[in-house]
Amino acid sequence: MGKRASDGIGLAYCKLLAKQGFNILMISRSDEKLKTVQKEVQAQNQDVIVSYEVQDLGKLSTYKEYVDRFQKVFQSIDVGILINNAGIGFTGSYLQMTYEEAEAVFALNNFHATYLCKMLMSTQTSRNERTGIIAVASLMAYYHFPWHIYYSCTKRFIEYLYQGVNFEAQADIRTKGKFDVQCYLPGFVATKLSRKEVGFTIPDTITAAEGALKDLGRREISYGVIDHHILGWLIKFLVKTIPESIIGFILMKEGEATHKKLRSKGYSFI
Ligand SMILES: NC(=O)c1ccc[n+]([C@@H]2O[C@H](COP(=O)([O-])OP(=O)(O)OC[C@H]3O[C@@H](n4cnc5c(N)ncnc54)[C@H](OP(=O)(O)O)[C@@H]3O)[C@@H](O)[C@H]2O)c1
Repeated sequence: MGKRASDGIGLAYCKLLAKQGFNILMISRSDEKLKTVQKEVQAQNQDVIVSYEVQDLGKLSTYKEYVDRFQKVFQSIDVGILINNAGIGFTGSYLQMTYEEAEAVFALNNFHATYLCKMLMSTQTSRNERTGIIAVASLMAYYHFPWHIYYSCTKRFIEYLYQGVNFEAQADIRTKGKFDVQCYLPGFVATKLSRKEVGFTIPDTITAAEGALKDLGRREISYGVIDHHILGWLIKFLVKTIPESIIGFILMKEGEATHKKLRSKGYSFI
């Protein structure tokens, strides 16, 4: 089951899992896009069922809304792997961001990763096979990147949550061995969201998702590809060793420049 799956990394997960024989349920906002990719994935994998649900995840904000929308869906299918991939980040300083932008980042990045994970774990403890639960965070979780603070913070939240949940799941006799909870932290991947082409340290979506899937059950934190593993290590090393006044200043300049560049092209998000 893939979330936010009609494009980018989410679609890559769906293609890879369909190839491995999983039935696929994709969720995103656009009926038209979903119909097109559903046909594409189905045509390439005729022995599995590829279906979709149209839902703007940014419009759901309470646990009750998630239960009302997805409880029945979860109960009607056997969920082997849940991928919480939805995410958005607006650029701008804390003061510049509008309340609406701030709210949208929180709602889309955090709620589904929190509520759907909990909902699935509560209903799957009697399942015989292991269940995989993945959330897509970002390497930007490793620092409170100025002018991208909300994005960084929401990704940090997911990283902490999934590490904690995986620890508890393995420590609790009721859930031990039943769940593999993983947080995937990519650097730039070539997608519409990043507006980057494949290149040095920028993998295509299939390579990225394939790497993260290979780590499922082996690592609670995955970087997908070795370049991103090294980048993650580098960011952690730099923020630990370089004084905050220097690294913060450099990243602030970079964040501001990115913001100006994006806004001048009419984009508001990363
Ligand atoms: N690409 C990168 O460089 C990069 C790096 C680090 C982390 N990430 C993270 O990876 C995840 C996926 O990013 P991506 O680059 O693959 O994005 P993408 O190429 O823009 O794909 C976005 C997908 O999400 C769907 N979507 C967008 N808003 C939605 C909403 N409100 N509700 C439901 N579905 C929604 C889109 O379909 P519809 O438009 O039809 O809804 C589309 O299928 C995000 O969490 C992002 O933060 C990406």
